[in-house]
Amino acid sequence: MEYRGYDSSGIALFDQGKLTVVKKQGKLGNLTAVLSGKEFNSTVGLGHIRWATHGEPTDQNAHPHVDCGHKFAIVHNGIIENMAELKSRLKRDGHVFTSQSDSEIFAHLIEKNYHGNLVQAVKQTLLEVKGAYGLGVISAAEPDKIVAARLGSPLVLGILPEQEGFLVASDVAAMLPFTKEVVYLEDGELVEITGEQYSISNGKTRLDKRDSQTVDWDLAEAEKEGYEHFMLKEIMEESKVVVESMRGRVLPDEGNVKLGGLIDVMPQLASAKRIIFVACGTAHYACRIGEYLIESQVGLPVEVEYASEFRYSEATLDQGTIVIAISQSGETADTLAAIRHAKKLGALTLGIVNVVGSSVSRETTAGIYNHVGPEISVASTKAFVSQLVILVLLMVLLGRQRRMTVDRAKEILRELGQLPGKIKEILQQQEVIQEIAKRYAASTNFIFIGRKLNYPIALEGALKLKEISYIHAEGYPAGELKHGPLALIDQTWPVVALIPQDSVYEKTLSNLQEVKARQGKIIALATVGDTQVKELAEQVIYLPKTLEILTPILNVVPLQLLAYYIAKERGCPIDQPRNLAKSVTVE
Ligand code: M6R
Repeated sequence: MEYRGYDSSGIALFDQGKLTVVKKQGKLGNLTAVLSGKEFNSTVGLGHIRWATHGEPTDQNAHPHVDCGHKFAIVHNGIIENMAELKSRLKRDGHVFTSQSDSEIFAHLIEKNYHGNLVQAVKQTLLEVKGAYGLGVISAAEPDKIVAARLGSPLVLGILPEQEGFLVASDVAAMLPFTKEVVYLEDGELVEITGEQYSISNGKTRLDKRDSQTVDWDLAEAEKEGYEHFMLKEIMEESKVVVESMRGRVLPDEGNVKLGGLIDVMPQLASAKRIIFVACGTAHYACRIGEYLIESQVGLPVEVEYASEFRYSEATLDQGTIVIAISQSGETADTLAAIRHAKKLGALTLGIVNVVGSSVSRETTAGIYNHVGPEISVASTKAFVSQLVILVLLMVLLGRQRRMTVDRAKEILRELGQLPGKIKEILQQQEVIQEIAKRYAASTNFIFIGRKLNYPIALEGALKLKEISYIHAEGYPAGELKHGPLALIDQTWPVVALIPQDSVYEKTLSNLQEVKARQGKIIALATVGDTQVKELAEQVIYLPKTLEILTPILNVVPLQLLAYYIAKERGCPIDQPRNLAKSVTVE
């Protein structure tokens, strides 16, 4: 399961009846090196590979976590939203925490709730925790037992052949070297495993035995949850990504947002006079959408710089300037250099980062995590969607400090909450997009066009296509075609047009007329119910209606799928395109 996280790992088991925990920062190899040559005689144990959400990747923050009395060990995937409240209550009751991880709360809560019955203690604990979990628990008080539970994070029970025992894991991939017979747990369910038996319960009720299923994947496939490539898996996660990026951050009744990582810099955000975004590649395009969002809704001047250029800029920055770096990996060398440069010039620096504890997150004064899990495919997809969601949240926060009304903020947040369902609708059109991809896979050039907020999406669509299919593709503002690129257009050029029903709809329609008149082949992304675009376009992908400022979040999804299916059609190595790396740590 190393692909799920690789910043630290650990195990807990019983050594001569005593709960023993071994954990190590870094790759799994660090843990196996420590364990090598050691022998344990335990029939019950926990293991965990961490992808940090709270707290840096250190030995202490690695799982399993234990309680004060060293009697309970837990492993947890997910996030505890009411961490602050629970932690301060537990501390008041005398519990001592040894890590910054939110997960450690489980160990202490179970300790507090244990009165001779582990299952009851876990059930009581789950009632007190808000958030998402895939949880595993063992206890020295009942050393023949594993209790596991899930809500919002996956959990699978594996049944070993010849009654040899059971496994529980958050991914079926972990089971496959040992068994193919599994039982999938549903949200809200808890499983108690003792000796040769297991029982599943749902809240207070014990459920009937559930039939097991036989997995017919091999290991490599299962790591991708059955998807052929990580890229497709990550695109398919995008509806969930919107939920994860918003989780615990929206205050619907107040028409505001709460971004925990920015609490300490709220006064500087309120008095900021200018924002400069710095980033590379896909993250740079997210910044360009951030520019539209903040300038139009907040009224603050925003500039966007390529980090690789900004690092050498001679700009004048002052204390009223905030430099915000966006980076999925948090390790991009140019982005890091840009932050260091901004600090030297006297600006406050913030980060929007997916990888917890990464260099960008450590070197900025404050920031916001995406919390969307590891992105493995080199082509960034789900991280981009999350970056856009977070920029919308940041826009609301800055706007509410300035001119945005409560009603407008409520409207935006309400509609943001509708996007997961709308993204699902788009993902269901994957076959339509695959058909379009087949038709154009042999093309040698593409142009992507859009206006306003969707111009950066045109750039991103072109970047996705070129990086994984090796087709030459360019993104243009639709109104700019007539100033030069229109000379290229003939019947061999597919033109991908972003034309939602927004404030520039009619203008973009005219730009499509210009392409059609030169026999360009238009593939349009239009709004459901639109009747005009199909008169001009060869193919139309219809997207649900949303607020104009949120259209980029929907529009990018079919472009990612289009790039994916074209690359697949061309037989390209999609997850690891030639010449590229996931994290660019050199200048
Ligand atoms: O990890 P980062 O977000 O800092 O990476 C920035 C770019 O290297 C990255 O977005 C790159 O452009 C992707 N391969 C695009 O899909």
